Amino acid sequence: MKAILARKYGSPDVLTLEEVEQPTPESAQVLIKVHAAATNPSYWHRMEGKISMLRQAYGDPEPIDHAMGGDCAGIVTAVGPDVTRFAVGDAVFGGAKGAFAEYAIAGEKNLVHKPESVSFVDAAAIPTGGLTALQGLRDYGHITSGQHVLIIGASGGVGIYAVQIAKSFDTQVTAVCSTRNSDMVKDIGADKVIDYTQQDWDGTGPYDLILDMVGERPFDGYVKNLTPEGRMVSVGALGMDTMAFMAKMGGYKASEEEERVFNFMAQFKTDDLTTLAQLMESGAVKSVIDRTFPLEETAVAMTMQGSKRISGKVVITMDA
Ligand SMILES: NC(=O)c1ccc[n+]([C@@H]2O[C@H](COP(=O)([O-])OP(=O)(O)OC[C@H]3O[C@@H](n4cnc5c(N)ncnc54)[C@H](OP(=O)(O)O)[C@@H]3O)[C@@H](O)[C@H]2O)c1
Repeated sequence: MKAILARKYGSPDVLTLEEVEQPTPESAQVLIKVHAAATNPSYWHRMEGKISMLRQAYGDPEPIDHAMGGDCAGIVTAVGPDVTRFAVGDAVFGGAKGAFAEYAIAGEKNLVHKPESVSFVDAAAIPTGGLTALQGLRDYGHITSGQHVLIIGASGGVGIYAVQIAKSFDTQVTAVCSTRNSDMVKDIGADKVIDYTQQDWDGTGPYDLILDMVGERPFDGYVKNLTPEGRMVSVGALGMDTMAFMAKMGGYKASEEEERVFNFMAQFKTDDLTTLAQLMESGAVKSVIDRTFPLEETAVAMTMQGSKRISGKVVITMDA
């Protein structure tokens, strides 16, 4: 089968399209014929190899595991002996190992059935961004109906799902993005859009909940825009270097902001994937696809990912 491999760390030109052996599912694993696979910032960091924590996981000085990609949608073509929830022929989406390939292996707990009304491309786009938005808003932000929510970085792969999931909790959503993405963010349900090229969101609250994908301000810059019981959830670093963001988070010690400022790493959870599937099936949440690329052009897709300028998601399609 054809697969994209990263045998070295570096820029997207380290990615090679190679003929490799099709994997075989073991125990609770599922083999998927991948129809679509999305890019994500974390795959960019894995490819670059500049973050020491990731190098420890993937191999140092060179990656040991060469597979690339994770979020995907496709058809089950084989199952391991311990698989109970899937059969050959099922359409699924979720997280796999090495999804930038014609076939990929996934643990069954990282997959759910794809609703028939949702395309493979739209389903492949959602796992990481949707889980991050859901867990950030619900588990750390304690979102409830009637709240006023500020979403900073609303046009990206987490933000598009955060806007829609926040609306599904019957909240008032103010979304921060640039001019070129304002209409799209309104279309997916934001009640108010602040174009950060024209206006600062500082002073536009107070907000019950701030979900931030940009990370460029000190924590008290967020806290002063919260209601007395408000919460701020820090997701990522679109507005600054990721290394600087990690240093900032590492240096953060709960003090007077204790229990108001939260930072977390999203987890793959079957129940949460099921929630995302239900939200998509009901029409409450949809994917916004900036561009699709064939597998051969994965390096171009990853260059786009590295630019931090994607509107919604970029998806690799295997059956283009
Ligand atoms: N904690 C976790 O578990 C977790 C999970 C997923 C992602 N993350 C992190 O969260 C961040 C967001 O991920 P993502 O997938 O949404 O990224 P993304 O898809 O690359 O975000 C791209 C979008 O961000 C906008 N943007 C870029 N710079 C901006 C700025 N300074 N202010 C506001 N918007 C800006 C861009 O639009 P414009 O160019 O028009 O502004 C573009 O639409 C990343 O740092 C990622 O590593 C963390």
